[in-house]
Amino acid sequence: MKTGLFEEIRTALRGSETRILMCPPYHFDVRYEINPWMDTRNRVDRKEAWKQWKALYHLLGGEIGAKVELVVPVAGLPDCVFTANAGLLAGDTFIASSFRYPERAREELHWQSWFESKGYRVVRLPPDLRFEGEGDLLAAGDLLLAGYTFRSDREAVERVGRLLRKEVLALELADPWFYHLDTCACPLADGSILYYPGAFTEEGRALIEDRFPDAIKVPEEEARRFACNSVVIGRHVVISADCPVVGSELRARGYKVHEVDVSEFLKAGGGPKCLVLILERKGVRAEQLDTGRPLRAMRAA
Ligand code: ARG
Repeated sequence: MKTGLFEEIRTALRGSETRILMCPPYHFDVRYEINPWMDTRNRVDRKEAWKQWKALYHLLGGEIGAKVELVVPVAGLPDCVFTANAGLLAGDTFIASSFRYPERAREELHWQSWFESKGYRVVRLPPDLRFEGEGDLLAAGDLLLAGYTFRSDREAVERVGRLLRKEVLALELADPWFYHLDTCACPLADGSILYYPGAFTEEGRALIEDRFPDAIKVPEEEARRFACNSVVIGRHVVISADCPVVGSELRARGYKVHEVDVSEFLKAGGGPKCLVLILERKGVRAEQLDTGRPLRAMRAA
């Protein structure tokens, strides 16, 4: 395996092809309950939340080399730290979220005006459709993996697929603890995915198994620590702490695994991936990962 400065530079260059959006947790708190993780009596330790968020920010922008853009948080919008739910980016088009719950619907204008001010073309779905951005729609190569039921509507994710002319694999979510797709599935750079089978209906599981025979099945214990809510940037996977089974499986497949403590954000039902929105990602293919170790075969499809 190549090591040393040369490898570090290659790694940084790869990361720099990815631009992400984060929002500092100035106003982050648990002030309402819109998923089973949230309990307003279980208050956030603000100092600790800052420490955890900063560690993630420095890891992504430092060693991993992603370009991190920041959006200024708004008082009274405690969940806007979870930028993944702002919407979905496709080139210069921003497909804006329209949140299920009024508590988060108040973020919509904030996100839309931020993207407008940056010159993006902002697209809104018809008002009767609920859509929560990258929380429920994740690019897996040319495919869009979608989750629906608790937050996004099936019709919404399918509409986004038509808009982007991409095939959508729509998966019904069955467990309210895994209310967004990014809490129970995560596309990897080699074309495979991580997923927690217990979060999906039988039909959803069958669709995944058929499409991703090589997927990593996340054990329940680690799924509950948000192992699926990982940030994948090329060969780097940033994973919630204490997920050793998934961590070693990823390492065996040639990934560099970085653990981060996100315990304060778990109180709101969020992990590392929820804190990140992908603004731009240049395709990193398995053969470009160049980890010195063979990656397992890509999915057959
Ligand atoms: N409290 C937030 C909510 O319930 C957490 C969002 C987490 N974001 C995510 N992409 N899963 O909406």
